[in-house]
Amino acid sequence: MKTYVKILALSMCLVTSTALAANAFVSIDEWLDSQAAISLLRMKENISPAGTATGVVIASPSRQDPDYYFHWIRDSALVIDTVLTYSHSNAYAQSWKQDLIDFVHFSKRLQQTPTTTGLGEPRFNVDGSVFLGDWARPQNDGPALRVLTLFRGLDLVRKKSKSRDPQFEQLILDIIQTDLNYIVENWQKPSFDLWEEINGQHFYTRIVQMEALGQALNRMNSHVPWQQDEAKFRHVRDGLKAALEKHWQADKAYFSVTRDRLEGGEGYKFTDLDIAVILGVLHTYRYNGELSIRDDRVLSTAFKLESRFAAIYSINSISQGPLGPVAPAIGRYDDDVYFGGNPWYITTSAFAELHFRLATNLMKKPTLVFTTKNIAFFKHLLAATNAKKKQNQVRIGMNLKRNPELREQIISALRVRGDQFFARMQLHAPADGGLHEQFARTDGSPVSARDLTWSYASILMAIQARAEAKLLSGTTGL
Ligand code: NOJ
Ligand code: NOJ
Repeated sequence: MKTYVKILALSMCLVTSTALAANAFVSIDEWLDSQAAISLLRMKENISPAGTATGVVIASPSRQDPDYYFHWIRDSALVIDTVLTYSHSNAYAQSWKQDLIDFVHFSKRLQQTPTTTGLGEPRFNVDGSVFLGDWARPQNDGPALRVLTLFRGLDLVRKKSKSRDPQFEQLILDIIQTDLNYIVENWQKPSFDLWEEINGQHFYTRIVQMEALGQALNRMNSHVPWQQDEAKFRHVRDGLKAALEKHWQADKAYFSVTRDRLEGGEGYKFTDLDIAVILGVLHTYRYNGELSIRDDRVLSTAFKLESRFAAIYSINSISQGPLGPVAPAIGRYDDDVYFGGNPWYITTSAFAELHFRLATNLMKKPTLVFTTKNIAFFKHLLAATNAKKKQNQVRIGMNLKRNPELREQIISALRVRGDQFFARMQLHAPADGGLHEQFARTDGSPVSARDLTWSYASILMAIQARAEAKLLSGTTGL
């Protein structure tokens, strides 16, 4: 693992042309429209492409440097979740259900395929056979992400179908149960993180596992196959919650991404400050209370991450684009070495998404108290969106519910800031809309796997979050 990471880091730092993309000059709405259309299409091309088993989601068509022509459990769950989110779109209205059906059947097959690490096996060959090469395994976020996607799929099928299909619903529930049992049996064991580098106990893995069990507990009824498991699920869910709380480091003001590290990341990854914490909160759709986008510790972590990335990537010295201010490009963690350690589309999109989701959430639920932990996030937000004067109004202990004017300003600042993260991507994304995994920290040019399915999925999720914030602002008058 260690040598592998180093070789990649040294030999594959692909930095190509410089210059701003031509599309940096069109309005943000125009760019997002075209980028969304392209992303929807390119994502589709990577779902069950010719020559692969039905149900496969390739991580990328790239077959070397890096070879991502595989089906990852994590990537595929997040991509199918995006397909479900876009079931209303022209691109997916006709096909989302078939994509879900294929995903379900393929998931069943993978669950039945013998592997060296059980359901924690992170990726499979595109013909559906087990990948036996050396890899960072197990990765125990996979089954939990699959559960979350399947629950959403089940809800959508029930909502949108004219008649029920009990057999298909049962199949989904059985797959979910198998994954939940795996979580229950393995939640205390170490596994590799979502970046496939570190063996230990991870915030990301834990929060998706906790949410998978939480969702199962919310759906306790006589039809679910886990009726007898309530006490067990509750116990593990609570155990995960308690374990997650221990990731908070008050002295550093962020959640550490990994505890009890066993191997990986030797010689780097010193801070344990990692975007995976934010991804975990977004991928579980947590909007209320602890470990949600409202949690002041989550916002403190976001603030620390943004400040760090703003400082370390030279492209972030550009703070103005042709059309106005741009937010910093965001990466995974500060001393990342993979392909030279660059900003990624999934991580920069996550920042846009976080801002829009928080805006929407504040429109729906006005209560939010400024605390010692979240105040830096909000002051910075106001400063970065030219609402500097308002910064002085932000005082610890103040509740936004009792200050509607400031609440409106914060909501609008969140939306402006969300757009600034989009504007950052607009600045560097190629004119043809093709998104790689990363863009170079020095000049924004494309790096690593081309047409990364997850890049498209994540920008689409952020675009959807923006649309929801806009829609709601229309109805609430904000
Ligand atoms: C190290 C990278 O950082 C990780 O994200 C990647 O998946 C593996 N190497 C395999 O390519
Ligand atoms: C590397 C990323 O670190 C990992 O999270 C992802 O699953 C693979 N690439 C495939 O996209």
